[in-house]
Amino acid sequence: MSSPVMALEGLWLAQTMKHSSWLYPTVETMHIWGIGMLFGSVVIMDLRILGVASKLNLSDLSRLGVLVALLGFGLAVLTGSLMFITQASELIGSRLFILKMCLIFLLLANAIILRMRTVSNGISKAQALISLAGWASVIGMGRWLAYL
Ligand code: HEM
Repeated sequence: MSSPVMALEGLWLAQTMKHSSWLYPTVETMHIWGIGMLFGSVVIMDLRILGVASKLNLSDLSRLGVLVALLGFGLAVLTGSLMFITQASELIGSRLFILKMCLIFLLLANAIILRMRTVSNGISKAQALISLAGWASVIGMGRWLAYL
């Protein structure tokens, strides 16, 4: 166990969350709010890129979709980090947690490239499929963390 990780667990905030009966579940609830906002927007935008409801203007849809997705992602990162510090040494040694973080990083890069082009062609359709499968997998990994 490395000392910076132990230091995180020793933080007042981490100890308070650990010893409160309601704080952790509340933060976890907010994590799910963030995930809902992120994944909901991603599904709508990706389906549009894949050709569903092609009459809807992609730029207009993306303007709102990206904003809600970013707010949701910010909430998920904030609440995820709070949960992380309560069990940092355990999670840092978990392959599933590391995989989840790497996948989030790759999906973020994928989303930035998609957003930069805002078109619906062959490459962006492949990216939309990767995005749908990838974010769905991140949700599965997050849920499975509690059981492994
Ligand atoms: C930096 C970003 C993130 C961090 C540090 C983080 C961290 C965590 C932690 C520590 C847990 C609790 C694991 C446990 O039960 O032992 C968790 C749960 C979870 N995470 Fe994340 N997370 C992040 C982003 C995300 C994102 C972007 C998604 C989905 C799109 C996600 C999906 C989930 C799910 C579905 C759960 C399970 C919630 C539950 O069982 O109630 N996480 N996350």
